[in-house]
Amino acid sequence: MRRVIWVPITSSSSIVAAPTPTLTRITRAVAPRLLSTTSASAPAARWEGGVSLVQGASRGIGLEFAKQLLEKNEKGQVVATCRNPDGATGLLDLKIKFGDRLNILQLDLTNEKTIEASAKSVRENYGSMNLLINASGILSIPNVMQPETTLSKVEKSALMLAYEVNAAGPILVIKHMWPLLKAGGGMGTKRDVAVVANLSARVGSIGDNHLGGWHAYRSSKTALNQLTKTVSVEFGRKKDPITCILLHPGTVDTDLSRPFQRNLPKEKLFTKEFSVQKLLNIINNAKSSDNGKFFAWDGQEIPW
Ligand SMILES: NC(=O)c1ccc[n+]([C@@H]2O[C@H](COP(=O)([O-])OP(=O)(O)OC[C@H]3O[C@@H](n4cnc5c(N)ncnc54)[C@H](OP(=O)(O)O)[C@@H]3O)[C@@H](O)[C@H]2O)c1
Repeated sequence: MRRVIWVPITSSSSIVAAPTPTLTRITRAVAPRLLSTTSASAPAARWEGGVSLVQGASRGIGLEFAKQLLEKNEKGQVVATCRNPDGATGLLDLKIKFGDRLNILQLDLTNEKTIEASAKSVRENYGSMNLLINASGILSIPNVMQPETTLSKVEKSALMLAYEVNAAGPILVIKHMWPLLKAGGGMGTKRDVAVVANLSARVGSIGDNHLGGWHAYRSSKTALNQLTKTVSVEFGRKKDPITCILLHPGTVDTDLSRPFQRNLPKEKLFTKEFSVQKLLNIINNAKSSDNGKFFAWDGQEIPW
């Protein structure tokens, strides 16, 4: 049987590879406590409350995930990644409030080197991970891509960008975080498994597509679903202690949905607080039998 002991983390373990002096000043810190195991073959670190990474945490649903993970899990460590940490004011506010428990890293999904660097930083500072949430996503960018209302508006550049950010990027994040998730499993949490939760959208469902339109966004989410399902099959086959799920958050009041809210009945527009509370409930109760499933905010399974 493995024996566990509490050990203090060494002062050389800085918590963030900070891209700027400002960020270095507020994020370098000594982690609280680290539970190690005396078994030679076992991974070295076990974090009480677990280590969660939220990718795409500068605003919207991702920022709310980081906030609720910090508020609701008093001991857990949160790594929040974003493209521009200096400009991520919501995250910097959380950093002031939660100090050592929050680690902000720079990650741009269109640059795999930043994904690799984030994985390296997490490995060096924590050694394992128990939850990965891919929360980023793009639907419209002024003068770059607009949700198409007809085939005649489909542009190759918008299709490629949507695939890069909404489908390829999150899968590359899983690829680089895989060893950390494998090492972490459910250790330090109430779950038996580590969880990968990819933020998808109901419009990515082929079976549920009755309206058409939004070609780039819709099909990039379909691609994300297929890639996530494929990864989940591999994790299952290898008996890795990781459950991959896809989540539809509902229509949530964020920058992403704001231009398209006009005709939506009020009761169908969720606050990010409500949606994330529901999604965290699904994540916290995820079991290995949920591997590869696509859930809506209310726990209902969505057809492919
Ligand atoms: N809101 C809804 O109604 C709704 C409905 C269904 C599904 N979803 C899905 O839920 C997720 C979160 O959406 P949201 O409403 O929170 O959107 P949001 O408020 O627009 O936030 C999008 C996030 O994605 C990040 N991002 C964009 N491009 C990136 C890149 N290249 N690399 C890394 N991060 C990047 C943004 O970072 P920057 O700040 O750097 O731009 C931002 O943090 C998305 O996957 C979305 O498709 C949302």
